[in-house]
Amino acid sequence: MKPFIVVADGFDKNLFEDLKNTNEFDVHPSSKITQEELKELLPKINGLVIRSATTITKEYLDLAPNLKYVIRAGAGTDNIDKASCQEVGVRVSNTPGANNNSAAEHAVALMMTVLRKTAWAHSTMKSGGWDKSKFTGNELANKKVGILGFGQIGQIVAKRIGGFDPEVQFFDPFQEGSDLSYVSKCDDLKKLFSESDIITIHTPLMDATRGLVNKELLSLMKPNAILINAARGGIVNEDDLYEVLNAGKIRGAGFDVYATEPLEEDSKLRSLDNLVMTPHLGASTEEAQFRVGEMAVHQLKEFFINENLLNEVRV
Ligand SMILES: NC(=O)c1ccc[n+]([C@@H]2O[C@H](COP(=O)([O-])OP(=O)(O)OC[C@H]3O[C@@H](n4cnc5c(N)ncnc54)[C@H](O)[C@@H]3O)[C@@H](O)[C@H]2O)c1
Repeated sequence: MKPFIVVADGFDKNLFEDLKNTNEFDVHPSSKITQEELKELLPKINGLVIRSATTITKEYLDLAPNLKYVIRAGAGTDNIDKASCQEVGVRVSNTPGANNNSAAEHAVALMMTVLRKTAWAHSTMKSGGWDKSKFTGNELANKKVGILGFGQIGQIVAKRIGGFDPEVQFFDPFQEGSDLSYVSKCDDLKKLFSESDIITIHTPLMDATRGLVNKELLSLMKPNAILINAARGGIVNEDDLYEVLNAGKIRGAGFDVYATEPLEEDSKLRSLDNLVMTPHLGASTEEAQFRVGEMAVHQLKEFFINENLLNEVRV
């Protein structure tokens, strides 16, 4: 019998058609199903592909005695109870790297938006305005950019902004240096915050980084500086961010991620005039979705046909 595969939270349309058309799998006809539909299908499922809408709990695993493999099409696997999966022998993978360029470009987009005030200018244009003098911005060219976390995405950001002739410093205890002539390592986080015109955050959220960007660091920033976070909510203390922005102590900020997502409807962050916000869109490009899907299809084939487990994620 062919493995029965369910794709639960949406997928690139063409890739999904290709997956259905392979002879190797029996694929559920829809690539996006409700949680109720998923629960009904669970007893039969052998392979499951999810994004962030489905949370794999012990309750789901109890309903799925034939489940062998869960793929999180994306990077974060916080929505999978990996310990319970391990206990019952369900293997878990993600599709690392597929989103990196999109996330990096989103950070750059937020930088440009905040520097040139395009989001604010746009909303006044929509309501009939023509407020040229209100929206004098700043260039990115020749600015000092501080990158907090110089892993895959931080490094792509450094590369992508190279054309603006910036001076880039990064703080990352686990990275040595960079081949890029305009990038240097900074061993002092306080120095990074006090010297940069633009700070962009690209660390993971973990014990060492939770609340790392707090009042103390924010108060070191230059009055004209801006802060970008397209990494994870929780790295920046949002109360401290609010205070600093509300008091106009820095020029502005661009955020894609929040401590609680979706951001509460009545969050005080929404009232700030110098904060541009997007609803966790870093990975939301057609290109990233395609790459994620391509990897998921490849990993399904490797697992079920070649008994080869790629990109396993364990507790
Ligand atoms: N907005 C989005 O949609 C989106 C999409 C993809 C990834 N992300 C997030 O972007 C972030 C970066 O992802 P990545 O793939 O580049 O990760 P990565 O693991 O490749 O890089 C993270 C870097 O942070 C460094 N780091 C760890 N602790 C640190 C600390 N205390 N101080 C400074 N640096 C520290 C690590 O050494 C590493 O080099 C993650 O938080 C990820 O969840 C967001």
